[in-house]
Amino acid sequence: MHNPQLNKDGKLKHLLSIEGLPRAILNQILDTAESFTGVSEREVKKVPLLRGKTVCNIFFENSTRTRTTFEIAAKRLSADVLNLNVSTSSQSKGETILDTVDNLTAMHADMFVVRHSQSGAAHLIARHVAPHVHVVNAGDGRHAHPTQGLLDMFTIRRYKPDMHNLRVAIIGDVLHSRVARSEIHALTTLGVPEVRVIAPKTLLPQDVEKLGVQVYHDMRAGLKDVDVVMMLRLQNERMSGSLLPSAQEYFKCFGLTQEKLALAKPDAIVMHPGPMNRGVEIDSAVADGMQSVILPQVTYGIAVRMAVMSILAGSNDA
Ligand code: CP
Repeated sequence: MHNPQLNKDGKLKHLLSIEGLPRAILNQILDTAESFTGVSEREVKKVPLLRGKTVCNIFFENSTRTRTTFEIAAKRLSADVLNLNVSTSSQSKGETILDTVDNLTAMHADMFVVRHSQSGAAHLIARHVAPHVHVVNAGDGRHAHPTQGLLDMFTIRRYKPDMHNLRVAIIGDVLHSRVARSEIHALTTLGVPEVRVIAPKTLLPQDVEKLGVQVYHDMRAGLKDVDVVMMLRLQNERMSGSLLPSAQEYFKCFGLTQEKLALAKPDAIVMHPGPMNRGVEIDSAVADGMQSVILPQVTYGIAVRMAVMSILAGSNDA
């Protein structure tokens, strides 16, 4: 079946989800990102790859890291950047998302970076836009957050270059997490041999094993000898009903402390996509500790988003 993210030559035209993308494309993005890490260290932090292009950030949901790093990345590629303030836009007067996109396209937007609480929003826009316009999913509902998944893979590769010899644990609210889905698809596509998910039964999707992961409900068993510990936030905004006794009880069973981290390999890295809830899923001593690579993840997000946008802009339909 044709993947709507690829053009007729198999090149990446939109980035909507990691699911279904070939390993070669993931590696192309990660390798291209390597070449962009140096740009941020130069005195003039710019390359001309998107000169003359307009990138439009439309975030219907709050964001700190994703929106700002997309803006920085687009500016470092020399694009013009337009940040639509959705709360003061004509959305509040009943304009549809597609009418908003059409109006911005009439202003010659070349690329839309979209975050929305509804799964499938970015796909809807990608199906609608003109052939020369590109769409990047910056997080849709609980479905996918592909650039977060990619920047996490980039971070892992930087600290643990042999991806074919890794044991990775993803811990917490997998059920509501678009990040976890994107990470699982990326890890399995890139050939990581052992991906574990550690969570209470109430925070795991049905049939999660079918995604190629091993399931643990006990943090101490699941953390044993892992190389990478990926923590997830409790997505309270997407929970309906009471799935947990209390935040304190959750922290006791599934919060990452130094004592629990000691069960992982001594050189294990600790990751978190942010925003963190200290004292709920992670203890401050771990979040700020020697094994934490949480802030490098944010930094690498710029290079990875530069890579994605430059690859999209260079695809044949552009
Ligand atoms: N990781 C992430 O998506 O963070 P923001 O919600 O701040 O963009």
